[in-house]
Amino acid sequence: MEVAMSDNHWQITYPQGMIKYVDFFRNELFQYEIYDAVVQKYINKYANIEVNKLCALGCGTGRHEVQLKRMGYEIIGVERNRESFPVIEAVFRENGVEPISLVEADFFDFELLKKKLKSQHFDCITLLFVPLSIEDTVKLVDIFEYFLKPGGLFISNQFIGYEEGFTPNITLCDNDYAENPLQKDLPYKEREYCVRLNTYKYKKNLIDWTAVYIFTDENGVVRMERDHDIIDVLLKDEYGSRLKSTNSSMELLPLYEVNEISTDANMPKTKDCIVAWRKKN
Ligand SMILES: C[S@@+](CC[C@H](N)C(=O)[O-])C[C@H]1O[C@@H](n2cnc3c(N)ncnc32)[C@H](O)[C@@H]1O
Repeated sequence: MEVAMSDNHWQITYPQGMIKYVDFFRNELFQYEIYDAVVQKYINKYANIEVNKLCALGCGTGRHEVQLKRMGYEIIGVERNRESFPVIEAVFRENGVEPISLVEADFFDFELLKKKLKSQHFDCITLLFVPLSIEDTVKLVDIFEYFLKPGGLFISNQFIGYEEGFTPNITLCDNDYAENPLQKDLPYKEREYCVRLNTYKYKKNLIDWTAVYIFTDENGVVRMERDHDIIDVLLKDEYGSRLKSTNSSMELLPLYEVNEISTDANMPKTKDCIVAWRKKN
């Protein structure tokens, strides 16, 4: 749930007990294996150092990190939401991948991060599928320059919009269905599942996304929960201006439109793109 604090700042939180169900949809819709291969290609092309040590901000249920760990990166995940921790453990176990180190922290809390990450410096910092405002994303680039080695990258993603002729003052609706990915071996009737009804309200560069989740919880009670997100869409001609870091050590790199993943993984009417900054040598 994103709680708006102002037009340019909001917090990402979730209704209690929902992370497990949200993860059903992450697994179903986001093609992490394909996406993270694109991330790796981007790293190889643009980092000016060899990339081994990676810090994953907002790692959530660890689905990117399972892929990235398989590629051989050493990873520390930073996550604020406690409920994600047992799910991330289960996801790594299920995939037969050694768990990563996790740090429980708000990634905007610089003093806490300095304490928890100690004097560690990273070759790459990722902020993937974390729908902050673009202004707050750039703020994190400014903060995390401190933890980055010269020549290393800060990699994030945005939704870029819109196709020609689309006027963003409409509402669109769709729905999804997903099953518990950790129960693939159970008979169909015994698997947990969830239905999600989505409403997207388009207002200039912002999309208000309300998702209503309907599911049977672990006590056998049918529940309905509502989640709200705000998506800050990057308009094509704003690339340089909105993403420019105020930290002169961080240079903005070329954007990469991710055409490798299916359009289901995008917000309707937008396209996913990788945006990144490199710390100057
Ligand atoms: C939409 S989820 C994406 C999770 C994961 N990166 C993925 O792609 O599957 C965003 C994650 O960022 C975390 N997050 C948001 N704001 C945060 C903050 N200020 N500090 C730490 N984690 C945060 C949320 O708790 C959530 O797990």
